[in-house]
Amino acid sequence: MAHPRFAYAPAPESRAVVRLRPSYGLFIGGEFVDPLDGGGFKTLSPATEEVLAEVAAAGPRDVDRAVRAAEEAAGPWAALAGSERAKYVFRIARLIQERARELAVLEVLDNGKPIRETRDVDIPLAAAHFFYYAGWADKLEYAGLGPAPRPIGVVGQVIPWNFPLLMAAWKLAPALAAGNTCVLKPAETTPLSALLLAEILQQAELPPGVVNIVTGAGDTGAALVAHPGVRKVAFTGSTAVGKEIQRRLAGTGKRLTLELGGKAANIVFEDAPLSQAVEGIVNGIFFNQGEVCCAGSRLLVQEPIADALVDALKRRLGTLRLGDPLDKNTDIGAINSPAQLEKIRDLAASGEQEGAQRWEAPCALPAQGWWFPPTVFTGVSPVQRIAREEIFGPVLSVLTFRTPEEAVQKANNTTYGLSAGVWTEKGSRILWMANRLRAGVVWANTFNRFDPTSPFGGYRESGFGREGGRHGLEAYLEP
Ligand code: NAI
Ligand code: MG
Repeated sequence: MAHPRFAYAPAPESRAVVRLRPSYGLFIGGEFVDPLDGGGFKTLSPATEEVLAEVAAAGPRDVDRAVRAAEEAAGPWAALAGSERAKYVFRIARLIQERARELAVLEVLDNGKPIRETRDVDIPLAAAHFFYYAGWADKLEYAGLGPAPRPIGVVGQVIPWNFPLLMAAWKLAPALAAGNTCVLKPAETTPLSALLLAEILQQAELPPGVVNIVTGAGDTGAALVAHPGVRKVAFTGSTAVGKEIQRRLAGTGKRLTLELGGKAANIVFEDAPLSQAVEGIVNGIFFNQGEVCCAGSRLLVQEPIADALVDALKRRLGTLRLGDPLDKNTDIGAINSPAQLEKIRDLAASGEQEGAQRWEAPCALPAQGWWFPPTVFTGVSPVQRIAREEIFGPVLSVLTFRTPEEAVQKANNTTYGLSAGVWTEKGSRILWMANRLRAGVVWANTFNRFDPTSPFGGYRESGFGREGGRHGLEAYLEP
């Protein structure tokens, strides 16, 4: 059946709100400095492939300089009254709000995700994390870690490219509130919002050295986590690198939290409100092009409604708009890097080779940039790679089940355990499922909801430790 189509006039957000510098140094001791070890790299716009800026690559001596700056700042920062530290963290939150539009556009340019998401999700949530933890800074004795919990010292934080500013906020806000000093390493394809955050930290008059930002690739991250001055490491990224870091840190006495990949089940029972479930499935796997660790990448649907649900889903996917991520009407932006696009293409090809049926939303892909259409695989069996491996792209694998027991068994049949979703009218069934799903977060009749007050983290190969909420303070305090 043909649906009437409305043409959308272009509604681009202005690029002029962001002033990009041609090149960026490292942020060490409260200032932008040139790298001692020389090198630099370019960061590109995934939607256009244009070079946005040249960014410094921190070598071992630069990492050392950053850790020393953090060590020097550690004593005075920890000695400040919690209510004084709170003022700085609160100021950072306010400045993120004031510069929200600039940050939203910059994040689009560097990451490729749509402005609708950076404007409504990434940036407001980043501010919310700083607001939330500002409130904790003078109440640490109520965190459940004894009457006088102490900061750990210098923390090394390595973050990925899928939510660049938000991941920086998840890492920095609790660490600062707890009285630690930080060296943060953003991902090499998305360093720019962290560097704008560095300007915000200057504006907030955060004491020099309390936060240092070293840009670079995996070797910069490796030098940071191995540095003897770093007392605690927080990492978000791939399971492979997470395991490598865990091996490197074994026996060093350093504390570690890992937030790694996922292969979440989004489970729809026959009594679920279908049109609401369709929206939840779309949000679960096509939000941020599916480049989300907790994405609902496996749809488990109860057999009697499977055909109707998949039909409704495909109709809905036909209305998603893919293209210029700066356009306010765009739903699906660009894939962050050619390497990630290659990985998505490979895994999608394996789905076809292994016998699943592939369907793509009918949409034209722009000629420039890195794009992948919303894709649904049906007839998926649990042994296929697309049912087991994290794709980290806009690809949904549909499996079916008959009974709640079978749904639990299939949902837990994964090496990961980060998140899950349950769609049903029955509250008792939600609780029954939540008790049996081996996942750090279980959403009921919703998906991909984030809140700074709520702990987030995984089981098994999804990592360990929690970020957000009171639980998020534990990683940054000694009893
Ligand atoms: P990655 O794990 O290599 O990168 C994440 C961060 O770790 C980046 O800042 C990177 O520079 C740094 N890094 C790389 N090697 C390191 C090392 N040896 N020591 C310390 N830091 C190091 O992830 P990548 O290659 O960008 O993505 C590969 C796959 O990982 C994705 O396809 C996806 O499946 C998964 N991933 C999961 C994320 C999550 O949110 N859990 C985020 C990013 C990727
Ligand atoms: Mg980039």
